[in-house]
Amino acid sequence: MNYLDTDYSDTIGAGMDVTNTLSDTSTNVLVCQQVSVTFVYRAALDMVNLFNHTPFCAMMYSKHQKGDSMKKALFILLAGMLIAGLMLGSCGSSSPTKITVITDATYPPFESINDNKVIEGFDIDVMNAIAKEANLEVEFQNVAWDPLLAGMAQGTYDVAISCITITDERAKTMLFSDPYYTAGQIVVVAKNNTTFKSKDDLVGTVGSQLGTTGNMEVDALTNCTSKPYDDIGMAFQDLMNGQIVAVICDAPVATSYVSKNSEKLKTIGEMFTTESYGIAFAKAKTDLRDKINKALAEIKKQGLIDQYAAKWLAK
Ligand code: ARG
Repeated sequence: MNYLDTDYSDTIGAGMDVTNTLSDTSTNVLVCQQVSVTFVYRAALDMVNLFNHTPFCAMMYSKHQKGDSMKKALFILLAGMLIAGLMLGSCGSSSPTKITVITDATYPPFESINDNKVIEGFDIDVMNAIAKEANLEVEFQNVAWDPLLAGMAQGTYDVAISCITITDERAKTMLFSDPYYTAGQIVVVAKNNTTFKSKDDLVGTVGSQLGTTGNMEVDALTNCTSKPYDDIGMAFQDLMNGQIVAVICDAPVATSYVSKNSEKLKTIGEMFTTESYGIAFAKAKTDLRDKINKALAEIKKQGLIDQYAAKWLAK
C-alpha cells in the first residue's frame, strides 16, 4: 500500500536549482515560498487521501460521521503544520547565495596570492565583509587583468573586484557599485635617479600594467616609450634591473612595492589622478549590484573600509 506516491524531492530540488541561479536572496525566498505552497498543497491532499484509505482511520472517520467539514479541518491543520515546518526549515534559515568573484591577484596589497596559495588583501576583506552583510557566499577566482576586463565587458563573469577604476568608457559595458576606495596614479623611479622630479620630466621607457588607467597615462607621455606588462610586478622588476626608467601605477600599490624595496625604489611627485574603485558587474546583474551597494553602505558605516585600509595599506 503506497498512497504517498508523489516524490517531493523533485519538487524541492527543482525549486532549489532555480533559487541557486538567482543572485538575489529576496527573490530566493519568494521562489522558495512559491515552491513551498505547491508542495504543501499536494502533500496535504495526499495525506487526506492516506487518511481516507487507512482502514483504521477510515473506521474512526465513519464512526464520527462528520462528513466534509472534518476532512476540511484535517486538511487545513496538515497544511498549516507543513507550511510552518517548511518556513522554519529550508526557507527560514535562507542559506547564502553562492557567487563567484574574479580578481587579478597580482596587485598587492589589494589582491595577491599568499604562501598558502590563498587570495588575500584589502579587496578580498572588503568583498568578504559585503558578502557576510548580504548573505552571499563568495568564491574568488584568479583571472589575469586583460581577460578580466574583457570578460566583464562580454558578460562572461558576473562580479569582479580588482581595484577597478570606475570610468565612463568601462561603464558602457559593465555595471559598477558605488565607490569603495579612492586612489590615483603615481610615478616610481630608481632610488638613485636624480633627473626626474615629476611625471612631466620623464624621458625613456616607462612601464605600466596593460589595459589599466596607469597604462593610459603612460601612453599620453610625449617623451616616453610605453612598455605595457601583463603583471605590474614584472614592471617593477624591470625598473629595479634598469630595463626601464619609471613605472606608473595606482599609488597604494606603488607605495607597497617601494616600501618592500626601499633601497632600490622611490616615488616622485604626488598622486596625479583621482580615481574611484568600484566592484564591477555584468550588465544584467542590476539586482546583485543593488544588493551589494546596500551592503557596502552598511560596512562603510561600520568603519570596516577604514579598518581594512589600516590593516593592508601603507601610510
Ligand atoms: N585602477 C587601475 C585600473 O582600473 C588598475 C587596476 C589593476 N588591478 C589589478 N588587480 N591588476 O585600471
